[in-house]
Amino acid sequence: MPATGAKPQGATTEADAAQAVRQMFDSIAPRYDLLNHVLSANIDRLWWRRTAHRFRPILADPNAAVLDICCGTGDMTMALLKLRPRNSQPIFAADFARAMLTRGTLKFGAESRGADKPYAIPLEADALHLPLKDASLDLVVTAFGFRNLANYESGLREFHRVLKPGGRLGILEFSEPGGRLGKAYAVYFRRVLPTIGRLVYGKQGPYNYLPTSVDNFPPPPQMLALMQSTGFAQCTWKAYTFGIAGLYTAARSPVV
Ligand SMILES: C[S@@+](CC[C@H](N)C(=O)[O-])C[C@H]1O[C@@H](n2cnc3c(N)ncnc32)[C@H](O)[C@@H]1O
Repeated sequence: MPATGAKPQGATTEADAAQAVRQMFDSIAPRYDLLNHVLSANIDRLWWRRTAHRFRPILADPNAAVLDICCGTGDMTMALLKLRPRNSQPIFAADFARAMLTRGTLKFGAESRGADKPYAIPLEADALHLPLKDASLDLVVTAFGFRNLANYESGLREFHRVLKPGGRLGILEFSEPGGRLGKAYAVYFRRVLPTIGRLVYGKQGPYNYLPTSVDNFPPPPQMLALMQSTGFAQCTWKAYTFGIAGLYTAARSPVV
């Protein structure tokens, strides 16, 4: 397995990689939502919604313990909250970039949601070292965050640790479509998107990192094998929008 984790430019250790990723997201936080929706033509909303619906039976249980890790500015969390009944346990929404989490909290926090609406508790935390007990969660979801972890295997092991036996995992990530569409998309993803990103942010960086990070991420067969080797069962991948993105799902087996 050549791809062990995210490799932002210049990072030589896992600690460097994590720091570079955190700084990058802190710096793009003010414009993250706007640019995301524009560059994806709002398809990202559909992907978050589809992901949440995949876990509807768990979300419908008011006592289910749910974590959205790498929650960023909170759109995945909001899609999950839509399927929670009133008076259900709050969702945990965690991210290690404070500026992203602060924006997310304005959307999903108890104060902004009103007393009787389901809400999320923000946690400033690293996905590789979650401040949560072993076997305490029924569902862990992450949207477009897993690819950024400094070590994919460690991330999966940490998710396995906090999930109850039989608990479910959902990882929504970018992918690379094949065929003609893949070629056209590659031009957009590798040339157009970094150029727009550079114009908006006035610097190289975040939107150059995006295609590189997708290149570096294991393709579905490799990722599924990694999930199995870290103790997950019933591992699946479903392509979204011709394979531009896709959802990995799995269940925690009792032992690794
Ligand atoms: C592309 S954003 C996705 C945000 C949100 N889930 C969404 O779908 O819009 C990736 C997020 O992952 C967070 N992240 C990356 N590595 C992390 C780690 N090791 N621990 C916690 N958060 C991390 C970043 O700070 C960033 O907010």
